[in-house]
Amino acid sequence: MNRDEPMELLSRIDSYVENLFAPADPALETTLRRSREAGLPEINVSPNGGRLIQLLAEIAGARRILEIGTLGGYSTIHLARALPEDGVVISLELNETYVEVARENITEAGLEEKVEVRVGDARALLAGMVEEGIEPFDLTFIDADKEGYPEYLEWSLRLSRPGSLILADNAIRGGGVIEPEDESARVTHEFNESLANDPRLSALILPLIRGRIDGLAVARVLVD
Ligand code: SAH
Ligand code: DHB
Ligand code: MG
Repeated sequence: MNRDEPMELLSRIDSYVENLFAPADPALETTLRRSREAGLPEINVSPNGGRLIQLLAEIAGARRILEIGTLGGYSTIHLARALPEDGVVISLELNETYVEVARENITEAGLEEKVEVRVGDARALLAGMVEEGIEPFDLTFIDADKEGYPEYLEWSLRLSRPGSLILADNAIRGGGVIEPEDESARVTHEFNESLANDPRLSALILPLIRGRIDGLAVARVLVD
């Protein structure tokens, strides 16, 4: 019987899993240190969250990955590591300073051949990709501004094929989505409802511990 407070116990379980499955990794540590020193917000996925998206990309056999929200490239590196030799991640980021830091981190991790970071508002960049008729992605990871999630879902669907995966970070927000008290939690809840109800998708949210409880939405595209 464990008599810890529930949240403390969850944090200890998270560390337990992290110590087993996400051991010290020089490229990832350098990425976080450089990002912190450059003043980037510390809102990257957790080490276990990174392992999970990497594993899902590996299971999916993803060769083409789209990421919406690069920050310093921490999640990007996990996704790129799942790729085969000829695979590619295209990652979209609004903030030019973040992009510079991400490119350094990706190069340091030896992944610059596999990753293309595109600078700009994801909405415009996604519209451009649809316009140019870009080859569909096997996996899309949505992790930019939460207000944009419903639009990003629609664009992701247009850039997917049957069987593609669509992942979205921050689907639980410490439980903030249950009775939303701000616009961003409300939109996240609506996003979750559309994932649940959209006949084009088969989906679920996996709870993740990240200081507080958050979640990764995992959806499989069923139709064109
Ligand atoms: N995926 C990263 C974290 C991303 S944080 C990781 O886990 O390591 C969210 C990012 O989305 C921020 O860097 C922010 O600048 C970016 N962002 C916010 N609004 C955006 C928009 N409209 N278009 C593109 N990127 C955006
Ligand atoms: C926060 C966390 C995230 O993973 C993210 O993408 C954006 C913001 C946060 O904790 O504020
Ligand atoms: Mg996030």
